[in-house]
Amino acid sequence: MVTIAAIRERHVRGNRKQPGGMGHTVVMSIVKFNVLTVPDADAGAVLEERFAKRSGLVENQPGFEEFQLLRPVEGTDRYLVYTRWRSEEDFQNWVQGSSFQQGHEQARADRPGQGHGGPAATGSEVWGFEVVQHVTAPNEQQ
Ligand code: HEM
Repeated sequence: MVTIAAIRERHVRGNRKQPGGMGHTVVMSIVKFNVLTVPDADAGAVLEERFAKRSGLVENQPGFEEFQLLRPVEGTDRYLVYTRWRSEEDFQNWVQGSSFQQGHEQARADRPGQGHGGPAATGSEVWGFEVVQHVTAPNEQQ
């Protein structure tokens, strides 16, 4: 199980600079997935319900770019919480700050002593990535 303390201890690497076209240096974002083990469809429904009532604090966090809750359909039965950030440092600031604490208040209260998890998720792990390319349809904003 990934504890909050373990998340906090993760090494801060900062952004890797990518060479861009036309002699520019492009600083790319990073992506962090929280990968949640959810025992069955009932627990999945509880998890989705909890996210429907989420605090909404993350969107005001400096460096936050995007968040999606992804329900598994094929290939896995784990839910993914996809988040995209300007830098590793911005993500770490969120995880260590009060917005993260408040955003996980309910889950933490339900699982005293284990950081959080709540009744819906029985396990979690964090996957981290650097965005190498980011392509959107011409009429999409982000
Ligand atoms: C220790 C593992 C974690 C578990 C089990 C977990 C589970 C949950 C749950 C159940 C909620 C809904 C709110 C609630 O019921 O309190 C929530 C909110 C959220 N979680 Fe986590 N979480 C964990 C760590 C993380 C991490 C590492 C990330 C980012 C990669 C993340 C991203 C989010 C986001 C963006 C929200 C919405 C918060 C807001 O609206 O401000 N979580 N999480």
